[in-house]
Amino acid sequence: MPITYVDEAVGSDETGEGTQELPYKSLAFAVYSGDGVDSVKYLIRKDATADYDEATQSALKKAKKGADGIQKKKKKAEELASREDNEKKAERERKEKLLEESKKIVLEEDPALPKATKTKIGSAAPHRGERVRVCGWVHRLRSQKDIIFIVLRDGTGFLQSVLSGRVAQTYDALTLTLESSVELVGVLKEVPEGKTAPGGHELVVDYWKVLGPAPGADDAFTNRLNEKSDPSILADLRHLVLRGETASSVLRLRAHLLTAFRETYISHNLLEVTPPCVVQTQVEGGATLFKFDYYGQPAFLTQSSQLYLETCLPSLGDVFCIQESFRAENSHTRRHLSEYTHMEAELAFITFDDLMTHIEAIICETVDKIVSQPGPAALLKHLNPDFKPPARPFRRMSYVDAIAWLNEHCIKHEKEDAEGNVVKDEAGNPIMVEHAVGDDIAEAAERQMTDIIGTPIFLYGFPAELKAFYMKKMPADKQEGNHVFTESCDLLMPGVGEIVGGSMRIADSEELLAAYKREGIDPEPYYWFTDQRKYGTCEHGGYGLGVERFLAWLANRYTVRECSLYPRWPGKATP
Ligand code: 4AD
Repeated sequence: MPITYVDEAVGSDETGEGTQELPYKSLAFAVYSGDGVDSVKYLIRKDATADYDEATQSALKKAKKGADGIQKKKKKAEELASREDNEKKAERERKEKLLEESKKIVLEEDPALPKATKTKIGSAAPHRGERVRVCGWVHRLRSQKDIIFIVLRDGTGFLQSVLSGRVAQTYDALTLTLESSVELVGVLKEVPEGKTAPGGHELVVDYWKVLGPAPGADDAFTNRLNEKSDPSILADLRHLVLRGETASSVLRLRAHLLTAFRETYISHNLLEVTPPCVVQTQVEGGATLFKFDYYGQPAFLTQSSQLYLETCLPSLGDVFCIQESFRAENSHTRRHLSEYTHMEAELAFITFDDLMTHIEAIICETVDKIVSQPGPAALLKHLNPDFKPPARPFRRMSYVDAIAWLNEHCIKHEKEDAEGNVVKDEAGNPIMVEHAVGDDIAEAAERQMTDIIGTPIFLYGFPAELKAFYMKKMPADKQEGNHVFTESCDLLMPGVGEIVGGSMRIADSEELLAAYKREGIDPEPYYWFTDQRKYGTCEHGGYGLGVERFLAWLANRYTVRECSLYPRWPGKATP
């Protein structure tokens, strides 16, 4: 007679086979799996170290009942599985049938209904209660029973739309995907009490069509891009990232910011000019110039329009420009771009103090415009809920005082040798040293200082050797030690660091010629800039503001890359 082993301590009903090596755990399961109690001998033990005993008659009787229970349970499970399979199949067939039938439903706009007015979502509100026609992209999509909810996006806003009845039964309705472009027509209704929707209304659709379908399955929008996507993928798919709410809000705020800056400049009597990007002179040092062949001559992409703005003063008065600048810096930091939007201004017959007061006024009045207009203020609140306009006047700190401040706060910098290489200790770590007057304040130290102080700071009076050739020297009574200090200023903002660089300019042509010489610049291509001093010179000054850095500060963005439409950084010029 075959023997079946049951070990109640270490056996298993899942993986056991009833052998001595692989015993079952329960007698009931052993009986259920066997050919019947009369044709099998059952040996059982309770303890893995004890000997096997033959199962008693009463134990076998109990096990038979247990085996019946197992049998019933199994049958039930099989029935359930088969029912589920059938249901799934029926559902699949129902959907296929529905899809097949849906092809027969052809929507036509009812000519008996009132004529629909074409509108953008942002200007739809006055049409409440009327039929409207809106085109846009499917931003969100949800079906509930036989109703389809679409949140439509057209760049001016979001519109909740409801499709029910025949309009929700077409083939296009059943196969609609996110990011498809559609035309929706229907009555714009106020949402019922207690419900919310963008703008407080929803479109009850009576006619619609797909204008451009978006793929589903593997190539679906959400498969190409989602919150978990790697930053390098997000960079390559910037064109799709821009469709998202955060990215588009940043760019929308950027547009409002530029408008507000322009309005502020106009109210200060500055005229907008558009200088060239192709230039043959440098402004901020040869090391960061993008050079190219221009009809057989060397030319550069502009680093700054400053020199051109200076030439406008005698003809147009105070001027400003908002123009792309280019810097070939191998900097991968979160505040450097290879191409950035540079807002620059130049003012005649001013003092250094006037210059800083003007920069502060332009910034504060522009921020006031943003926070006082409902649209821009809402965007700002969404992106940077804790934003508070900075208090005036901004703190002013001389370069020499900043060096002392850094040393008082034990903020050191990397030691460099005469060639500018970082000096390291035996373990290969950079040697950190105190700051001394004459040192360039590095980005890291500058940021630490700005973040500790926590308010905007004008850092002014940098040594001439650290700054560009055109900067005016401080008056003799403000000079001290071996260094020559300039009437220059950087505006530093918490979280970002330098957002503005400005200065008074050398007004005297002899002094300017000496400055070219000191910097090893050939004065010949600068003849037009020098003429500025020759034909009625004047005391003047100006500055440049990095729009992406300003926006990163305003909207609390981690990097300037988020603040540019299509950011460029070393090695990246697509999309
Ligand atoms: O301090 P910078 O180099 O000053 C000038 O170019 C002057 N010629 C401007 C003038 O006086 N008209 O640059 C001015 C500002 C910086 O404060 C910073 O905000 C921004 O331009 N900037 C950059 N922004 C992003 N990426 C870069 N690589 C930048 N370089 C400068």
